[in-house]
Amino acid sequence: MSRKHLIAGNWKMNLTPDDSASLVEEVNAVVGKQNAVQVCVCPPFTSLPLVSEKVEQSEVLLGAQNMHDQPSGAYTGEVSAEMLRSLYVSHVILGHSERRQYFGETNVSINAKILAAIQASLKPIYCIGETLEERDAGKTMEILSSQVREGLQSYPSRALDLLVIAYEPVWAIGTGKTATDEMAQEAHAEIRGVLSEMFGEAASSSIRILYGGSMKPENAAGLLAQPDVDGGLIGGASLSAKSFCDIVEAAISAS
Ligand code: 13P
Repeated sequence: MSRKHLIAGNWKMNLTPDDSASLVEEVNAVVGKQNAVQVCVCPPFTSLPLVSEKVEQSEVLLGAQNMHDQPSGAYTGEVSAEMLRSLYVSHVILGHSERRQYFGETNVSINAKILAAIQASLKPIYCIGETLEERDAGKTMEILSSQVREGLQSYPSRALDLLVIAYEPVWAIGTGKTATDEMAQEAHAEIRGVLSEMFGEAASSSIRILYGGSMKPENAAGLLAQPDVDGGLIGGASLSAKSFCDIVEAAISAS
């Protein structure tokens, strides 16, 4: 089963619209014409309109970092799937550990967002991952399994082509500590095993599972060479066009 690598940049709460436009122009210039791997940038909401214009003529895809599960209404400060769609957003990061940690998101609330995203034909990049305490207590696989099962509760098989999973060990995010190639492969294989139990082996073998957590040009090749690592969700290193594009080049070489 061949799964095209996806390299997605999560810009988090960084960059004004003008700074975002400059960054995506640089990314476009280097990797915007190739389609050996998929490239997606996920700016903050305020930069989506301008970045959307900049990627219109490019292969680079546009993602958001969050959305609300309701289509519209009295939800001050929130953004709906339809609003994202109107800006040609194709992907949406859901359940990032920072949303779980600082904004009280749970597997159950994230599940509602995932189902709303696919209803609007948005591709969810569903983030899961264990904390250091959970890893040290030998609970990694148990945590990942419950995140997958609860987050994807009632997920319809017919929409599996939209689904992307991102394995982001919380202890590796923004810390400079990366999972070893073997640790990443072990977790990804385990996640694929849970997906296989839920949706069947054929379907699970076509779902992309990205690695995230201090991925940079120096460690990308090794991680992306693992059989169950289908790309990366890049935080800090996606804020530099050079390091982000170097990771894309590593993914092209690994394909
Ligand atoms: P870093 O690459 O900065 O560790 O962040 C990873 C991440 O959280 C991507 O969503």
